Amino acid sequence: MTVEPAALQVGDVVTVTVGSVAHGGHCVARYEGRVLFVRHVIPGEQVQVRVTEEGPKGRYLRAEVVDVVDPSTQRVEPPCRFAGSCGGCDFQHITIEEQRRLKAHVVREQLTRLGKVAWDDVAWTGEVQSVPDLDPARPGLGWRTRVRFAVDDDGRAGLVRHRSHDVIAIDDCVIAHPLVDVTEVTTTQWPGVDEVSVSVSPESDDRAVQVGRARGRKWLEHAAAGRSWRVSSGGFWQVHPRAADALVDAVMDLAQPKPGEHLVDLYAGVGLFAGVWGSRTGGRVDAVEAHRSAAADAEVNLADLPLARVHPVAVERFVVSEATLRPDVVVLDPPRVGAKRAVVQRVAAWRPRAVVYVACDPAALGRDAAYFAEFGYRLEALRSFDLFPMTHHVETVALFVLS
Ligand SMILES: C[S@@+](CC[C@H](N)C(=O)[O-])C[C@H]1O[C@@H](n2cnc3c(N)ncnc32)[C@H](O)[C@@H]1O
Repeated sequence: MTVEPAALQVGDVVTVTVGSVAHGGHCVARYEGRVLFVRHVIPGEQVQVRVTEEGPKGRYLRAEVVDVVDPSTQRVEPPCRFAGSCGGCDFQHITIEEQRRLKAHVVREQLTRLGKVAWDDVAWTGEVQSVPDLDPARPGLGWRTRVRFAVDDDGRAGLVRHRSHDVIAIDDCVIAHPLVDVTEVTTTQWPGVDEVSVSVSPESDDRAVQVGRARGRKWLEHAAAGRSWRVSSGGFWQVHPRAADALVDAVMDLAQPKPGEHLVDLYAGVGLFAGVWGSRTGGRVDAVEAHRSAAADAEVNLADLPLARVHPVAVERFVVSEATLRPDVVVLDPPRVGAKRAVVQRVAAWRPRAVVYVACDPAALGRDAAYFAEFGYRLEALRSFDLFPMTHHVETVALFVLS
């Protein structure tokens, strides 16, 4: 079937050459002037794709690969038989080294486009660093310590198809930590609930199963950075078992804490960065966390630090009510939406000597980097980590200093 360019529509199949990777894990391809976002492909490949969806105002189309006509040398057989249908992993068809190169490309592209970053002045290797595998024989697998299963109308737990509510029956998840015990969850009936979350702590060999959306029923003990951490189920903890140590090392190395210095830790979770800062410097620490049970955990986790205080409030309120603070350093680790302009403006008004920003979304980091520049802080250094192998996700730690 010959397809007229203007008439390209959902269901059509066309052959395209894959362009560069974009934020979100898909790659960009063009067909007679139309932009297509294609999943499960690699830059440089020639592929046949089927159009699956039209974006807002027809600005772009989404497409799924039907046939790889000319594969990349970086293409591999996915280690999981549900890859492609399950919405969880989108990079399993790519060598682990190429996954990291693609993520580095996205970090650079987002910070250039959204953050207007002048790279000459930024200390960055340009690479996404790996963290040690849990089992060296299974690179990039067996790391996920928290898995949220969706439950269908028949009470069966599984994982959700990409951009859909369909629940796919699975009996294995290769990225899940073995303690999650996927088959036990997916062979159990869960009537009357829409999700089951399993969190595990490899350090304490413990597991918490949360049925439905109720929070804080049980807590797990984690170990990282030489301390132990109580985390209630539903509260935030880094999902890769090597992540907390890698991020603490990066944050401390970039911030270079000095004895007695005052830290404000925004979006503090159960107090990871605040606790390490307080124990290393002996200085004042203010940890700000809106989630009530996470803040209660932080109280427990920081109880040995006499100058640490937990503020169980939204960051947006704290930065306004505490406008006269003069911290030496601010760490912020916001959710995917980022901190946004009003928070960045208030943080910059505190005039800290350093701001260390931990970002799970490079686009949010890019937008906030532009706000930091607007309010007198420039990006000085960057580290990126592959804390979510087999997926497009990447974690980045950025140091901003007064310009
Ligand atoms: C990415 S987690 C980081 C947690 C911690 N820094 C860590 O590494 O373990 C983000 C945290 O911010 C909290 N949070 C999200 N929005 C918030 C807000 N507006 N104000 C305060 N805390 C918020 C969430 O509950 C979550 O604990």
